[in-house]
Amino acid sequence: MGKTYRAQRHDVIRAKQSANADEAHHPHMKKAQIERVLPQDGDKKILELFAGQGNLTSVYKELGEVDAYDRKYLGTGDSFIVFHQLIYEKRTYDVIDIDPYGFPNRFFPDVFLLMSNGYMFLTMPKPYVNILNGITQTHMESYYGEANPSLDVILTQWSRWGLCHWRKIEVVDVAECRSIWRIALRVQKVKATEHTGVNNRPTDYKQYATNQLDMFAN
Ligand SMILES: C[S@@+](CC[C@H](N)C(=O)[O-])C[C@H]1O[C@@H](n2cnc3c(N)ncnc32)[C@H](O)[C@@H]1O
Repeated sequence: MGKTYRAQRHDVIRAKQSANADEAHHPHMKKAQIERVLPQDGDKKILELFAGQGNLTSVYKELGEVDAYDRKYLGTGDSFIVFHQLIYEKRTYDVIDIDPYGFPNRFFPDVFLLMSNGYMFLTMPKPYVNILNGITQTHMESYYGEANPSLDVILTQWSRWGLCHWRKIEVVDVAECRSIWRIALRVQKVKATEHTGVNNRPTDYKQYATNQLDMFAN
């Protein structure tokens, strides 16, 4: 028996991805967004995960120093694991680009530890145009509380995950292409006390004891 239509379509998509076809990687849309969003203000430290065959690496190299990772084309292992190593090494970046074929959920919330002040570009497949099997549905429910979250739900959750590490997130650009969004975030580390308005000064125990003694004396 021949392959189903879906299986054949899958093979065509995989072949286009391997051939670095523009239809599979949308480099023009991604490059235009990077140029639109990033300020041209001097050399940047850039982390590129899922760098592929370098469509975006060439753009980033014009802007500063690039650490590029890709399991297949650069032989640098699984980016979902490598980023934990980068956190352990206490690296920080001005720009982080995460461009997987699937969902980037497993990077959250800890990816924010790699950035104090900068910009992130993330690829997010549109859940509603991708056929979600049971495993993907459970994966999405565990990250977003629902199997088929809207863009609004997704961005609200990313913003919550930012605050897990006291990073304020602002969505500065959303570009659409077929089944994916490319989302650009401005990320800034905030002081917990300033962000919440809670002034958590240590108790002045000496003053406290004096006040208590005064109370008893009166
Ligand atoms: C969407 S493509 C990247 C396209 C690239 N950013 C560009 O603009 O040309 C995704 C890439 O992720 C790589 N890849 C897939 N799974 C990976 C993994 N677990 N860790 C690292 N790279 C992976 C693939 O080899 C592929 O090159």
